[in-house]
Amino acid sequence: MAKVRIENLKKYFGSVKALNGIDIEIKDGKFVVLLGPSGCGKTTLLRCISGLEKVTEGKIFFDSTDVTNLPPKSRNVSMVFQSYAVWPHMKVYENIAYPMKIKGYDKNKIEEKVLWAAKTLNISELLDRYPAQLSGGQRQRVAVARAIVLEPEVLLMDEPLSNLDALLRVSMRSELKKLQERLGTTTIYVTHDQVEAMTMGDEIAVMQNGVIQQYGTPEEIYHKPANVFVAGFIGSPQMNFMEVQILKEKNELFLRNESLNIRLTDDLKTELGNKIQNKNDVFILGIRPENIHKEKTDISKFEPIEGKVYFIERLGSDTIVHLEFKGTRIVSKLPGDVKINEGESLKMYIDLSKIHVFSKIDGKALI
Ligand SMILES: Nc1ncnc2c1ncn2[C@@H]1O[C@H](COP(=O)(O)OP(=O)(O)O)[C@@H](O)[C@H]1O
Ligand SMILES: [Mg+2]
Repeated sequence: MAKVRIENLKKYFGSVKALNGIDIEIKDGKFVVLLGPSGCGKTTLLRCISGLEKVTEGKIFFDSTDVTNLPPKSRNVSMVFQSYAVWPHMKVYENIAYPMKIKGYDKNKIEEKVLWAAKTLNISELLDRYPAQLSGGQRQRVAVARAIVLEPEVLLMDEPLSNLDALLRVSMRSELKKLQERLGTTTIYVTHDQVEAMTMGDEIAVMQNGVIQQYGTPEEIYHKPANVFVAGFIGSPQMNFMEVQILKEKNELFLRNESLNIRLTDDLKTELGNKIQNKNDVFILGIRPENIHKEKTDISKFEPIEGKVYFIERLGSDTIVHLEFKGTRIVSKLPGDVKINEGESLKMYIDLSKIHVFSKIDGKALI
């Protein structure tokens, strides 16, 4: 087990800047998720950490050891790939034993560890089978067993569940997380699936264009997104965004555009008031769908909006309502049993304690 520290890591493929200055410190024993859209550099970062890819610039440390230029076999890491990279011509036992064999362990030690790894992944009864005789989920268990057999300091997983069907993916999520908690191995887990990231990660690094946009706990990433990208990437349905100006009138602050005129609560007024420099600046107001309600509790903390129900998605547990509101569409998430019909006029209430405001210039969150 080790702490992983990455300093100003860059990886260029010709003119493609796959990683463009990554700084991150991953505490010993943590489960950290790299989350971001396809092509943002997740796999490249894992491959640099494993040693499969040479870095262009920057440093990687495991505890205080600089591993930047060490070959993979000297790093004490192992990696689970997206495709089940198990060898088809070897039985499960040999697949799991393989990393130990090439390191020259004796037969008894190998057997002891293979049986342990197989038991840990619940595949003891499959040791005598070939991969072709296994389901996708079982094959991925074999890949994980092989990755932990040498008890690495750092375990890397690149979208290990993405080839599994939806139900299996959900059950494997909790299983892998529990496994990691039991082993205590520092784990870096790549996914583009925000639900996987939120449910599995102790911490999440949200990536875009080869840069980490935010690194924090799932709660921080969700409730305090650092910028518009993170705010829009996390949460389903997506956060509603609207351009607004911030206007000062008498002693009050208003968020205003052609359809809205929100008077800020005292808390937000103080928080935001200090951050506004130019009164002509444009800002982006962000409202999560779950923070727009059909009922209100305290009128002073809610902003009413009234519009026409354009479209309803009934998801069972939730109802997603698309409201046409003065020329914009606003999406709201209401309870599953809510009684609404398409085409009807509806009044809803924005929870003003939960709004976000971003700078339009650099996308950074102001509140
Ligand atoms: N071997 C390579 N040669 C050239 N470009 C690459 C190579 N590997 C990755 N890239 C590019 O680097 C960027 C990041 O890729 P990758 O790390 O695979 O992203 P992700 O895993 O987040 O989808 C992409 O633009 C990709 O096309
Ligand atoms: Mg990838």
